[in-house]
Amino acid sequence: MRKKIVAGNWKMNTLLKDGMELAGAVEKLAQDKESDAIVIIAPPYTHLSKVRELISSVKLSAQDCASEDSGAYTGDVSPAMLVSAGVEYVILGHSERRSYYKEGNELLNRKLKLALSQGLKPIYCCGEVLEERESGKLYDVIREQLVAGLKALSMEQIGKVVIAYEPVWAIGTGVVATPGQAQEMHRFIRDIVAEIFDARVAEDMTILYGGSCKPSNAKELFANPDVDGGLIGGAALKAEDFLAIVNSF
Ligand code: PGA
Repeated sequence: MRKKIVAGNWKMNTLLKDGMELAGAVEKLAQDKESDAIVIIAPPYTHLSKVRELISSVKLSAQDCASEDSGAYTGDVSPAMLVSAGVEYVILGHSERRSYYKEGNELLNRKLKLALSQGLKPIYCCGEVLEERESGKLYDVIREQLVAGLKALSMEQIGKVVIAYEPVWAIGTGVVATPGQAQEMHRFIRDIVAEIFDARVAEDMTILYGGSCKPSNAKELFANPDVDGGLIGGAALKAEDFLAIVNSF
């Protein structure tokens, strides 16, 4: 059964006190939500264990994790540490990690496998930059991100992965993909997943759209048969806007 999900990626925003307020407000509104979508928030690392104590109907995600289990990796946070803080999901391969920190598909594949082995559910992001779309390379780029990023996952593991399609040109820009563009790419992604794994895994896969999704455009994006929810940046920093997106289903 395909799950609907709306996840809020807070990125590097909110100090601890503000983050706790935001999490509390999201939890309160989520308790009366009008849709059956799973609601996830991804605050910064520093907030995770405190936020955990404030939420029950909302699920907790990290924004990244290490590619190694433990040891001398200054600054890194392992999947096992996240699990020990009550985290259930982890965003991997966000375009900001890919571009600013040069995270490539092979590294992300290691992170995915380690996260899965520790019981985290990855939200694996893929997406093309504007130049790749305009030159028609977008399909090759997305295919490679999926083939290399999801390489050698078992059937059981792939069943725990959520994919987020985030066209880079739509992230934080106010320019949103048209419902047609989103549907076309989500269908393409589902077809690739069917090719790599099988048709049943592909049909059950939750594929989120991300990039300037807000209350005013969520409904028409989510109305597409292959769009199963959203990964929300800016609009996730206001509890009312975020829940309005959740309630768009
Ligand atoms: P945005 O970000 O909603 O602010 O465009 C989405 C994301 O980067 O996940």
